[in-house]
Amino acid sequence: MSKKDFKANFHILTIRTMLKKCFGEALWLKVFLADPHHGILHGNRVRKGCLKLLQKMAVAELSKLKKEGQKIDAKNPLASAIAAVEIAALFHDCGRFNDAGEVKFEEQGKHHELSAARTKVFCQYFGFLKALPFVEEAVLCHDFNSQKTTPHLKPPKSMIGKLVQASDQIGWFHPGSVQRTLAYNINLKIPFFDPTFDLVTRLNWKIHVQSLDAITVLMHQLFGSCKADRFGIKAAREKVETYKEQLEKKILQAAHKQGVKKEIQKLIEDFRRQQKKLW
Ligand SMILES: [Fe+2]
Ligand SMILES: [Fe+2]
Repeated sequence: MSKKDFKANFHILTIRTMLKKCFGEALWLKVFLADPHHGILHGNRVRKGCLKLLQKMAVAELSKLKKEGQKIDAKNPLASAIAAVEIAALFHDCGRFNDAGEVKFEEQGKHHELSAARTKVFCQYFGFLKALPFVEEAVLCHDFNSQKTTPHLKPPKSMIGKLVQASDQIGWFHPGSVQRTLAYNINLKIPFFDPTFDLVTRLNWKIHVQSLDAITVLMHQLFGSCKADRFGIKAAREKVETYKEQLEKKILQAAHKQGVKKEIQKLIEDFRRQQKKLW
């Protein structure tokens, strides 16, 4: 396989035009096109991450992907599977913005469902009907972390879904994610560190269900599951391991700026000891 086989089907400018054509003046679309946290820029980052992972896929993973592509378009199995991956990646978080274009914490737990509903409208509008079951599954499953932390979600079965999930979940471990998490939490008026929360409460935190403080989210980023139901692509599991050291340093730098470095150093050690209880 050469790099040419893994080329993208979409260009970000084409996607913007397609989105406007399909959804017109919808309020959520305006916000989605501009939002720095979970908007189209993030979707595009995840899409590009998928294209990179594609080039590193194991033979067995690639052959499963092609079989899925065959069900979409038997003449162009790989290209059609990649197109499904790209659409799912671009749309996966659009449901974070409700129809009024607002981001409400209490609605975030169901953002995958709203994202999937909008993806369905898009696929039907442009006639990507055979790709729809794969794209829908990928969007619905993208946020699965582990049975314990995301009990309301299922891991994806398809390679198309595993690619989108792995690319999105790698973002949790990327050292640059610290700034993104902090900015997102500031937006939601969630404090950096609230010492009144005990360790058990922090260990039992559930994504999208509770809001404690930003440092709890960061601890779950650093010590979250790296198992195959979260990272179904081997290359992604390996990539994540290379991020952890730098991610820990970035968290400690942020803690230092907030004047709570000692407290966070202790919290990191506590989490490290209890790590397996998290999943
Ligand atoms: Fe998401
Ligand atoms: Fe995402």
